[in-house]
Amino acid sequence: MGYNAWNAFQCNINEDLFLTTANLMVSLGLKDAGYHYINLDDCYALKNRTSSGAIVEDPAKFPSGMRSLTDKIHAMGFKAGIYGDSGWYTCAGYPGSFQHEAQDAHTFFDEWNFDLLKFDNCAIPYDDIIRQGIIGKYQRMADAIAKVARPIVFSLCEWGWSQVWLWGAKLGQSWRTTGDIGPDWPSLANIINFNAFITQATNFYGRNDMDMVQLGNGGLTYDEAKSHFTAWALMKSPLLIGTNLSAITNDVLGILKNKEIIAINQDPVVGESISPFSISSDYPPQYWSGDSQNGTVFMLLNTLNETADMSFNLTESPWIRAGRKYSVRDLWTHTENGTAVRNFTAKAVPPHGVVALLLKDAGDEPDGLYPACSVWYQCIDKNGTHVGG
Ligand code: GAL
Repeated sequence: MGYNAWNAFQCNINEDLFLTTANLMVSLGLKDAGYHYINLDDCYALKNRTSSGAIVEDPAKFPSGMRSLTDKIHAMGFKAGIYGDSGWYTCAGYPGSFQHEAQDAHTFFDEWNFDLLKFDNCAIPYDDIIRQGIIGKYQRMADAIAKVARPIVFSLCEWGWSQVWLWGAKLGQSWRTTGDIGPDWPSLANIINFNAFITQATNFYGRNDMDMVQLGNGGLTYDEAKSHFTAWALMKSPLLIGTNLSAITNDVLGILKNKEIIAINQDPVVGESISPFSISSDYPPQYWSGDSQNGTVFMLLNTLNETADMSFNLTESPWIRAGRKYSVRDLWTHTENGTAVRNFTAKAVPPHGVVALLLKDAGDEPDGLYPACSVWYQCIDKNGTHVGG
């Protein structure tokens, strides 16, 4: 969890922006909410390396130098992230690290003292130069990072090319699975839908990175913004705020600081993502569930353009025990919503809106409910008789 300046500022960055942002992270309560990384993105460097091949920060943007910036960020209790590229150039045309991996790792981690590297995928050397293939291209920096004496978070920004979710965990702690997020519902729907197929790749050892949390940059309704944050958090994506904090609204701040949603993202016991459970052709899926240290999590996503009631049978989720009833906690209204027996209906979910629930076992369901099985049509008594349905 942290901050990344790219989505709000692109190349318009300088040291004042990062220090102001770090201060706002504290004064707005975001640091206390768990956002602990302040990450630079592209465009911090000069276009040319020094004569000895080193990357240098742009002195017009960072007059006090990078080490001074990370010292100040660290002194405020944050970790600091830097950006690089696995090819010849970064996506905005600054020096990439290909064939400079060890030297750049030395600059980033020993000299500048950063704690995290986001490593991008632009300006890829052609095949008879690279030879190792795309995994090998990232392996070079992973090897350089392995030689750093302290732990560094390696965040692969490979946009889902080459099925990075299959091998990213061997090299780093997170991997972008999709292209850059846009501040609108079709972009969110695309990212959620794509990641719905690869939820198994995420766990404590590494995360599907669905890209920055794109709130407050225009293009999303309040309900869409809640859906965005809920999906990213419950699918266990990194939560990197991409908002201009000087202009943040109370609505956006309230979403980013929802403790009960963050608690699922940061669950210290269960590392898995939620996954879709109801078989249908919804795009993206509407019904999701997953395990958590405190109960079963449900996410209901109204992908329709109109308000809808959303219902599901509890035991469609594999985390629910048959024959039991469950207390229902709403993670957005922060209220207890009674006890669910067999099924649950969320009334009037707004268009592109979300409901996030935590269900806890509350004992046996009442006797004599019929049909004997709430879901499975092959429900059979021990004497072989088909029951109900
Ligand atoms: C893209 C990346 C963005 C941002 C940008 C910088 O490839 O996906 O998140 O880092 O490069 O140029």
